[in-house]
Amino acid sequence: IEARPLVIAVDGPSGSGKSSVSREVARRLGLEYLDTGAMYRAATWSVVESGIDLADAPAVAGHVAGFDLTMATDPSAPGAWVAGHDVNAAIRETRISTIVSKVATNLDVRANMLKRQRDLIAAAAAGPHAGVVAEGRDITTVVAPDADVRILLTASEAARLARRAKELHGTADAASVEATRDQIVRRDSDDSTVSNFEVAADGVLHLDSSALDFEQTVDAVLTAIARTVTGT
Ligand code: DC
Repeated sequence: IEARPLVIAVDGPSGSGKSSVSREVARRLGLEYLDTGAMYRAATWSVVESGIDLADAPAVAGHVAGFDLTMATDPSAPGAWVAGHDVNAAIRETRISTIVSKVATNLDVRANMLKRQRDLIAAAAAGPHAGVVAEGRDITTVVAPDADVRILLTASEAARLARRAKELHGTADAASVEATRDQIVRRDSDDSTVSNFEVAADGVLHLDSSALDFEQTVDAVLTAIARTVTGT
């Protein structure tokens, strides 16, 4: 794909595979990769670390407006740093996953993140890789509605639960799926109060990965990008 700069937006619910798929697509196309969920997780980590009461929405927003966040967008080594502190392991912990929606549904927090995300996308488009795959919940609709390619990646609830159970527990037996259900389903329901990532917006390509494995999903996304960019 020769047309550059190239901005590709991917949205989807938890467990849709959008992070691993977007990262691999970026790697194959030689683009940068922006994980916006990691930005909300890093913001949440910073709020908790500062001892701010999560229920105090103005205090949370005030902290997020000024916290020092650096994102690495190399798809081979993506990551988040808060004031120089490597938070990449900490932001995946359950204690962050269970509360991140509280921070991500704060509209002042979202306004601040929107600005940071647009700046990072613009920098990636102007940088040596001349493009970026940015993924999250509202990239196709709010952050980059004018992206060259916009994809909503979904999967059935059963497929998403099974994938996340395998990730977290190493197996998708009934008990592991049940243990995962609360996290995934409740978080998506909380998050969906501020972004619609269940239905593709106008002009957004809907890709259902329920019946596809990782490689097949990557191929489907690459094909969709090639078609859109070449206009075929
Ligand atoms: O994709 P993830 O699980 O790492 O996302 C973490 C949280 O951030 C999740 O609760 C949804 C929220 N999020 C968001 O509201 N908007 C985005 N663009 C990305 C993530």
